[in-house]
Amino acid sequence: MKSDNKPDVCVVGLGYIGLPTAAVIARAGCKVLGLDVSQKVVDTINRGEIHIEEVDLDGLVHGVVSRGLLSASTEVAPADVFVIAVPTPFDKNHAPDISYVLAAGRTIAPVLKHGDVVILESTSPVGTTEQMRDMIAEMRPDLKVPGLTSEIPDISIAYCPERVLPGRILEELTNNDRSIGGVTPRCARKALAFYKRFVRGECVTTDARSAEMTKLVENAYRDVNIAFANELSIVSDKMGLDVWEVIRLANRHPRVNILSPGPGVGGHCIAVDPWFIVHGAPDETPLIRTARGVNDGKMHHVIAKAEALIEAHPDAKVACLGLAFKANIDDFRESPARFVASRLVRKFGSRISIVEPHADELPIEFTDTGVSQIDIDDALETCQILIVLVDHDVFRVVPLAERADKLVYDTRGIWPDQPRVVREEEARLKLVG
Ligand SMILES: NC(=O)c1ccc[n+]([C@@H]2O[C@H](COP(=O)([O-])OP(=O)(O)OC[C@H]3O[C@@H](n4cnc5c(N)ncnc54)[C@H](O)[C@@H]3O)[C@@H](O)[C@H]2O)c1
Repeated sequence: MKSDNKPDVCVVGLGYIGLPTAAVIARAGCKVLGLDVSQKVVDTINRGEIHIEEVDLDGLVHGVVSRGLLSASTEVAPADVFVIAVPTPFDKNHAPDISYVLAAGRTIAPVLKHGDVVILESTSPVGTTEQMRDMIAEMRPDLKVPGLTSEIPDISIAYCPERVLPGRILEELTNNDRSIGGVTPRCARKALAFYKRFVRGECVTTDARSAEMTKLVENAYRDVNIAFANELSIVSDKMGLDVWEVIRLANRHPRVNILSPGPGVGGHCIAVDPWFIVHGAPDETPLIRTARGVNDGKMHHVIAKAEALIEAHPDAKVACLGLAFKANIDDFRESPARFVASRLVRKFGSRISIVEPHADELPIEFTDTGVSQIDIDDALETCQILIVLVDHDVFRVVPLAERADKLVYDTRGIWPDQPRVVREEEARLKLVG
């Protein structure tokens, strides 16, 4: 460590989590090297620019790069603290893929030295931090590794999950509480001292396995509760009820707080992480597994309703509003809106237009489909059917006067004042009741 007592930090993986984390640590005065396998990402950051959309991130990255506090590379270098934020996807059988984490561990192992702290932030199945520790121990038999030595270990290893909300990442990185799980209590203390440099929220120490499970549980909790709302929306369609009205009223109960239905559940976290629990305990997780099925099934319900509406109006032009997996972001991973829109485009071709203010161009599956990307004003001018798939603010603020004559299928409930024409339409099409 340098004389000013600020650790040099290496952040491995410069995506939605790693880049803001690297920038926030640099803002705290630490010298940060960002490591990524993508040369394009590295070059972009070294120009002081960013490759993802996140509120206020561009200014922060520009500032810390120009002050020489953040630089990026594809080559690892020695540091005092290593923070790993690489992807943890699942495979086609929903089994977690921790190969990126192990690859990151393999990359840093050769440069580890006495006193270093290694922190895994990627969402990981229980036991991953210990697996990474075992791999480092194998690669570096010269180092005393925590949990595998009776002496004071040379390095510390901890798991500290991220619970930020896209669109508010910089604020939440600093202000959210953190769970810090050490492979040993000493590791947790070392990691805690590091996070205290830039986190204002409360940092609670625990063991690595509990911290890993905590992150998975948080997202499974959200998934199960959203599944309840989505199931209610399907039941309400069947019974000819307005689910938003039902939820609004039920939530007046002091101990009821039903979440909002939508076109499904997407993103890199809530739609993925529950599977890590199911995979670890397949016979003990009927509820979590079922919730995943309900949320995925909601996409097909939305597609069927939208198709029926579009087929009943063969001359109408249709706008799908939104592709992102949630409001006001440019992240399209595992997005149910994207899935629904692509299915409608496949069936109805150029009758469909897409409005996605957070995309410069449409994702690959829309190439050569005849679909056009238009803005919300074009959609209001030229389309008779509007299918709301994402609750972006830019859609939410469209006043009733500009959409009163449209046929609207609002999967996000952003326009409670919309005339009930679609519900009457549904009854006519025998979609409900
Ligand atoms: N995005 C979120 O909102 C969010 C929230 C909480 C937790 N997480 C978790 O954080 C982790 C990272 O997610 P993300 O959204 O930042 O992913 P991302 O795909 O946006 O970024 C990952 C980056 O890691 C790089 N990378 C891959 N393998 C590498 C390696 N071996 N060495 C160096 N760089 C490598 C990729 O090139 C990419 O730039 C995941 O485990 C995710 O589940 C994400």
